[in-house]
Amino acid sequence: MDFDVLRRNVLEAIKKTQDVKGLEQIRIKYLGRQDGELIKILRSLKDLSVEEKRKLGPAANFLRNELEAAFINKLENLKLKIRNSQSNLDVTLPGKKVPVGHLHPLTLMENRIREIFQSLSFSVVEGPEVESDYYNFDALNIPANHPARDMWDTFWLRQKVQSSKFKVQSLLLRTHTSPVQIRYMEKHQPPFQIIVPGRVFRYEATDATHEINFHQIEGLMVGEDVSLANFKYIIEEFLKQLFGKNIHFRFRPSYFPFTEPSLEVDIQLGGKWLEVMGAGMVHPKVFDAVKYNSKEVRGFAFGLGLERLAMIKYKIDDIRLFYSGDLRFIKQF
Ligand code: DAH
Repeated sequence: MDFDVLRRNVLEAIKKTQDVKGLEQIRIKYLGRQDGELIKILRSLKDLSVEEKRKLGPAANFLRNELEAAFINKLENLKLKIRNSQSNLDVTLPGKKVPVGHLHPLTLMENRIREIFQSLSFSVVEGPEVESDYYNFDALNIPANHPARDMWDTFWLRQKVQSSKFKVQSLLLRTHTSPVQIRYMEKHQPPFQIIVPGRVFRYEATDATHEINFHQIEGLMVGEDVSLANFKYIIEEFLKQLFGKNIHFRFRPSYFPFTEPSLEVDIQLGGKWLEVMGAGMVHPKVFDAVKYNSKEVRGFAFGLGLERLAMIKYKIDDIRLFYSGDLRFIKQF
């Protein structure tokens, strides 16, 4: 048998084998060190001349390497097949869907609102959720025992605070984001325009439209000659960007202790008027509290409920769904 025939036979046999054991037998038969076919051929060449041996030696080595590689290759192949069949892995199946998280509709809504106001040159400011009596009420022209305090059912904390600025102060969970107006104005001078997104708390019974905690976005713009006309422009721009160019809205007179005049903004949807925010011109007493000269500066302020806007925009009929933790709800956004 010469090298070529041996080569053909071995490759043919490897090709036909379908199991590891059979493959090993073939390997021993042809490449075995004791009496494999290759060795036999080499031995039978012992009578050849030195020159011929010199030629055939490297050729035999080359063949052995080639055949050994073919065996290893086949062995890997067989092992892979076994592994695949054991794990039931079918590489031709379509891949499994990797679950992707969703942003909560309130996050989506807040991001959108931030974007719109930032495009109108408003800065975003935040404040604490635990507030003192002073910031949540007094400084906003809602003194103790004022009947307007009933507008905000309050969670009071047992702890009190004392500071160099105040005597003892009661603490509460803020009932609105308006106290951040005071905090901001204490530290900054006009002109400025800010929005304040944040979580607020009310001591109320829950139902489809009321939650004990929800979110507001406060707005405040103060300058020398800021007017309701500026407010109207900003709010029109905001509502158009959020609900589309054809949105109809109206101002309705209202009352808040920290604005004068006060108003509420309604939008028209499906033939109905829906209230979306409270607003007004900042009350001079609020400017007094932060030591602004109320004869020289003017400002407008507004406050809107994030849940309410999200409910309108995404047609959600129960506020409690936002906090249900139900993935079937979240996945829809
Ligand atoms: N803070 C008010 C509330 O929680 C909402 C509000 C009304 C905020 C009028 C304002 C405003 O800044 O001007 O009901």
